[in-house]
Amino acid sequence: MESAASIAQGTAEQSLDERRQMSDAHVAELSVVLPSFNEAKNIPILIELLDKALAGVAWEAIVVDDNSPDGTTEVARSIAQSDPRVRVIRRIGRRSLSGACIEGILSSSAPFVAVMDADLQHDETLLPKMLAAIRQDDTDLVVASRKVEGGTVGEGLSAVRAWGSNIANGLAQKLLNVTLSDPMSGFFMVRREKAEEIAPKLSPMGFKVLLDLVSSAGGTLKIKELPFTFRERQHGESKLDTLVTLDYFGLLLAKYFGDIVSVRFLMFGLVGLSGLVVHLVALRIFLLGGMEFNLAQTAASFVAMTSNFFLNNQLTYRDRRLRGFKALIGLLTFYAVCSVGVLANVGVANLIYAGPSYWWFAGTAGAIMGAVWNYAASSALTWRKS
Ligand code: GDD
Ligand code: MN
Repeated sequence: MESAASIAQGTAEQSLDERRQMSDAHVAELSVVLPSFNEAKNIPILIELLDKALAGVAWEAIVVDDNSPDGTTEVARSIAQSDPRVRVIRRIGRRSLSGACIEGILSSSAPFVAVMDADLQHDETLLPKMLAAIRQDDTDLVVASRKVEGGTVGEGLSAVRAWGSNIANGLAQKLLNVTLSDPMSGFFMVRREKAEEIAPKLSPMGFKVLLDLVSSAGGTLKIKELPFTFRERQHGESKLDTLVTLDYFGLLLAKYFGDIVSVRFLMFGLVGLSGLVVHLVALRIFLLGGMEFNLAQTAASFVAMTSNFFLNNQLTYRDRRLRGFKALIGLLTFYAVCSVGVLANVGVANLIYAGPSYWWFAGTAGAIMGAVWNYAASSALTWRKS
């Protein structure tokens, strides 16, 4: 009788290679990364559709779920228990479409990786065509595009979203020289080696992973586009709210400036600018209400800091968003950080103004110093990584 140990190791005469060949687990040529948040109803249907569409292809699916409250992870796991082609990555304490896609891509060992929505809006029957295209040596990336001739937005995208996405496309083309017809598409296939090379430059925030991939590659990717019709969502709802468009512009700007400043810092800066407007409006109202200037200025500062805190909590740090009691503590530390920021701001401005310098230069330098301090200190204190 064979002992358990010899079964586990195979027989001594077999080489490792032979044992590998005998293993019935398959080696994938194509990994399909499926980012998911609350898609419990869609995942089982999608896996069946993939099985049909990819008959004859050695494929695997990687569900990257951000700990969805609707139990998507459990649903995907139970499929994985009987289908070795399905794998699950459960991420805790993180919420980001791009981050999920990047992690899924990096967890693959297949030569080709596709990224596709898990909500059935993307047409899985396009995958074999994308695979055929990317198998050609002259292609590194195949984009399933909702814009090129033959492709339509279908019923899946509202008129407002379609309009917004046209503007976003135009900007991507002007600012970044990215000439994709649909840079916002969430459906593409890439040579894993290439993705691996570019991965360190990618921003894990937001949802524009394709645009990020192409612009970070700096024109080195050989790209093909294939048209498809974007389907309507049947189960569950979209997670992309209007706030994420801000995030998109953040990415455009950061890439445009060659990544000298991070997307996060840019967002923080934009929120800061909005705070200036809030401050002035509040100050005006308090003064009109008859408040004495010093008091009105202090009160307006608190209004602006509060608005900055909540905007940053929604946008800049959406992946580390503070809720409930933690948000209250966060607000208090944010007040503290910003108060020191004012000192840094005024201190630097005074120092420069004392020398032979222009008032506006001193003022701007002070403001930048204050912003850098606020950014550094609040990311370490208020929105620290747990
Ligand atoms: N892991 C993870 N984490 N997955 C997410 C997250 C997240 O924070 N947010 C969304 N997803 C998943 C969804 O579960 C879905 O499978 C896919 O990402 C797309 O999200 P939707 O919320 O359905 O996006 P949409 O249909 O509104 O937007 C589509 O169009 C955009 C451009 O207009 C998508 O194709 C986007 O990828 C595309 O950029
Ligand atoms: Mn969708």
